[in-house]
Amino acid sequence: MLYSTDNTVLFLPGPVAMHPRVYEAMNRPIYGHRTDHFRKLYAETVEMIKPVFGTGEADAYILTGSGTLGLEAGIINFIEPGDAVISMSAGKFGERSSQIARLYAKEVIEVKSPYGSPLLPEQLEEAFEKTSASLVTITHNETSTGVLNPLEDIVKIAHKHGAMVMADTITSAGGDWVKMDEWDVDIAVSGSQKCFGIPPGLAFVMASKKAVDRMMSIQRPPSYYADLVRFKNSVEKGSGTPFTPAITLVYGLHESLKLVHEEGLENRINRHRLMGKVIREAALAMGLTLFAKEGYYSNTVTAINIPEGIEWKDLNKTLQKLGVIVAGGQGSMKGKIFRVGHMNIFGPREALLAVSSVETALKKLGYDTNAQGTKRAQEILAETL
Ligand SMILES: Cc1ncc(COP(=O)(O)O)c(C=O)c1O
Repeated sequence: MLYSTDNTVLFLPGPVAMHPRVYEAMNRPIYGHRTDHFRKLYAETVEMIKPVFGTGEADAYILTGSGTLGLEAGIINFIEPGDAVISMSAGKFGERSSQIARLYAKEVIEVKSPYGSPLLPEQLEEAFEKTSASLVTITHNETSTGVLNPLEDIVKIAHKHGAMVMADTITSAGGDWVKMDEWDVDIAVSGSQKCFGIPPGLAFVMASKKAVDRMMSIQRPPSYYADLVRFKNSVEKGSGTPFTPAITLVYGLHESLKLVHEEGLENRINRHRLMGKVIREAALAMGLTLFAKEGYYSNTVTAINIPEGIEWKDLNKTLQKLGVIVAGGQGSMKGKIFRVGHMNIFGPREALLAVSSVETALKKLGYDTNAQGTKRAQEILAETL
């Protein structure tokens, strides 16, 4: 069979296609982590990852686990069990942070928007009129709906009321701007299998000086593996990470971050923004509609409404026959939307393939777009060459 699980193009919002140099870097012989060689590699990786989050001074914790471990660590190390947390959610991942906070905080106040809509600063302001909280959680780029939330404005409101912000930047960091220092973000969390372009298995927790000071001075809920103070102490005394790190993934991350800086962060983000525009405009040219509210479009994942008469399972199966995988909807969005991830090394070639594959699949299923999507993608891309 030409297209099999060994030969599929992933247009998922994670995991994503990886650069050949990343495979090569991970293919090198394993080495000891309590060695000068690894400690140097790790220290370089930490220095290279900071600018991706727009910070020079934050602590960077590279944990072994998926992004959700990062969210858990990003919450439990910065609250006391008696604290209240405001959890802003408008999608499956915002809800995840809220579920985690519920396990550890005394109270969780929910601020919600309908799926597809953004979370706005005025909603947070309203919540603070009724309550106080030490931490606000928010998903910067809500992968389940394709919405980019106005993080900078949210931080301003939270700080006005004396609360810190834990931002889930799992599908924004490395693909869109996350400016921790400039926006004064306290804690930003990400994961390896999205815009960082390596396999799943690493979580990143970035903590500002203010967040670290709080972490060091409060009575945090108990935790062993997600205890960032244990991590900090171990690294600072020169022992390296407290537990065996995912050595192979760190090799991959080191190489992937080299690629990020070779391209230049600004160029990389502009590319992601252009790819977002191509996918959105192509979908509209096909006569489809977008799930996210206009003005709040994600630049790393686009959620598209499935046209009437087409079943998600048929669309998925037909795309797989073309050797392409996109994502479906989650929870109540299942069957209603499909999502195209455009992260990491997704460029013009991938955009053309994604658009024309979707058009081919839709045509096969009886929805003929007259190749208007591909035409629109070509127009936009030709202008940039
Ligand atoms: C915004 C966001 N938050 C959290 C997660 C959960 O990350 P993981 O599946 O790596 O634990 C994801 C994964 O898709 C995500 O996109």
